[in-house]
Amino acid sequence: MKVTVVGAGAVGASCAEYIAIKDFASEVVLLDIKEGYAEGKAMDLMQTASLNGFDTKLTGVTNDYTKTANSDICVITSGIPRKPGMTREELIGINAGIVKSVSSSLIEHSPNTIIIVVSNPMDTMTYLVHKTTNLPKNRIIGMGGALDSARFKYRLAEALGAPISDVDGMVIGGHSDKGMVPLTAHATRNSIKVSEFLSDDRLNQVKEDTKVGGATLTKLLGTSAWYAPGAAVSGLVQAIACDQKKMFPCSTLLEGEYGLNDLCIGVPVILGRNGIEEIVKIDLSDAEEAHLKESAAGVQKTNGLLEL
Ligand code: LAC
Repeated sequence: MKVTVVGAGAVGASCAEYIAIKDFASEVVLLDIKEGYAEGKAMDLMQTASLNGFDTKLTGVTNDYTKTANSDICVITSGIPRKPGMTREELIGINAGIVKSVSSSLIEHSPNTIIIVVSNPMDTMTYLVHKTTNLPKNRIIGMGGALDSARFKYRLAEALGAPISDVDGMVIGGHSDKGMVPLTAHATRNSIKVSEFLSDDRLNQVKEDTKVGGATLTKLLGTSAWYAPGAAVSGLVQAIACDQKKMFPCSTLLEGEYGLNDLCIGVPVILGRNGIEEIVKIDLSDAEEAHLKESAAGVQKTNGLLEL
């Protein structure tokens, strides 16, 4: 199993690190445009192999896509991250050009690959990869929901005073401060609805804290987060590589599902060796459905800024 991660910045390097630590891939190629940078990160990570006990071989390359040839999975993290006060949508101008050229270069050398998109604005960048590569829809996956759901579970556990392993929950919709739809009515603590333990106000606070999860960290760190994004990507890569048939909310091209068409947005999917093997339809409350529609309108608006 060969995995390429484009972009050796904080998110790309974390992603490569978590994939290596989980030790399911034979090879990870880290690619960056900055001379020597990916080589340095890969070498540093390789020097953790005997300490962390993994056999995954990490290689760094400077913009040489021939070294990414025949990757089973490619992750695109390239582009600029947001600064405090910025929205993800504001990154579109620079990141669209980068994502377009990266995705074309990737499929030139790995025509059978599955692509995971991390660059922001993520849902729109996922849509752009569809338009650029024309790959079948099961092979293009936007990472956002897995990360937002992890942040949701963190906030739920905090509110419940429970360990995170006791908590389950999912965030669908767009990967944006306004667009995220945390499914509070479906969230559980050991199969009991969290609404049995938390007041409406507290649950609402959890929802709002989840939606600004990325912005909160950007303010604290001065740039966007990397540990949870990297871990979320590694979870998706592992589900595909190990054919786990696990359910994650991911951004995928919708063609009528959830009453939405011709956009990529987060909904629950099953991930296995073929990428997105199924889009799962769940019943939403009227409020959740209305929020998802509103979120989709926001994503469509950002998609409208693409020069296709
Ligand atoms: C975040 C970025 C990766 O939410 O969008 O941290």
